[in-house]
Amino acid sequence: PRDGPAGRAVIVGSGLIGRSWAMVFASGGFKVILYDIVQQQITSALENISKQMRELEKSGMLKGTLSAEKQFSLIHGCSDLKEALEGATFIQECTPENLELKKKIFGQLDLMVNDDVVISSSTSCLLPTKLFTGLKHVKQCIVAHPVNPPYFVPLVELVPHPETDPSTVEKTYALMKKIGQSPVKLTRETDGFVLNRLQYAVISEAWRLVGEGIVSPTDLDLVMSDGLGMRYAFIGPLETMHLNAEGITNYCERYREGMIRVLKTFGPIPEFSGEIEQKISQAMCENTPKSINLRREWRDECLARLAKLKTEMKSS
Ligand code: NAI
Repeated sequence: PRDGPAGRAVIVGSGLIGRSWAMVFASGGFKVILYDIVQQQITSALENISKQMRELEKSGMLKGTLSAEKQFSLIHGCSDLKEALEGATFIQECTPENLELKKKIFGQLDLMVNDDVVISSSTSCLLPTKLFTGLKHVKQCIVAHPVNPPYFVPLVELVPHPETDPSTVEKTYALMKKIGQSPVKLTRETDGFVLNRLQYAVISEAWRLVGEGIVSPTDLDLVMSDGLGMRYAFIGPLETMHLNAEGITNYCERYREGMIRVLKTFGPIPEFSGEIEQKISQAMCENTPKSINLRREWRDECLARLAKLKTEMKSS
């Protein structure tokens, strides 16, 4: 059979994020077509996915109910875009973060797709109005921004264009759920979406605190990894407020004034350059004396185990 039981997903761009998406879709039983303009990228993606799936199966961390072999058999490479799109139910674009390039690709897709398929972009920063305005199939277009690595960090931000049809949002939401991701809906675009706006708020205060010499770069990171981050892996900042008092209203009663007082002392937007940059860079290099790649592998292993723990905690 040409299609998996769930549908057919086409990955446009088989780099880091495209590969990860391919594995996520296959874990959900989708037939997956990996497309790229560079044939070597498709070949190395398939090799890499096969190896990763076998390792994940061995360590008991393969997603989905199908075996690694079965999941891998759902994924096929294709270097012809028209052929790749045949029978597609969902397209996930994962090409480099370059507006002109992406616009060119969406222009091509616009000429080739039917009126049903969802065209979704993995972009982390480009706004839907920049990417999709003027396309004939704009109703079917949406941003589905994953978090690296999507295989272990399930969040996906869904960001519509003003002309995106509500049914496109609903279809994408349902599909993301089905493949085990955790979608959130934005009602409209905003620069940085939600995840990066939160992340930048944290980064800028971290930068200021280190810049003012109040805490060392290493200790700053510990405040998150051994402090705030411990609970943030399970409950968000709003539920944290709710649980840290007798509900939100009580939290606001107790802490409103203090929060506003502290917030008023926040400094201006950092330059993210110069002496502070050097200080932080030096500290990070000292902390990660081995290779950055080894540390990344360790991080991904931690995330994989955390993902497993979160699943166990949900079902108990
Ligand atoms: P990458 O550079 O690893 O992969 C891009 C792939 O696109 C390459 O294989 C390249 O050959 C291919 N490509 C280039 N032009 C093409 C074309 N015209 N048609 C088809 N394929 C083409 O990039 P990466 O990191 O996978 O990023 C892809 C997208 O995902 C970007 O928009 C990025 O912002 C987004 N993203 C990346 C995250 C990350 O941490 N790397 C996290 C979340 C989103």
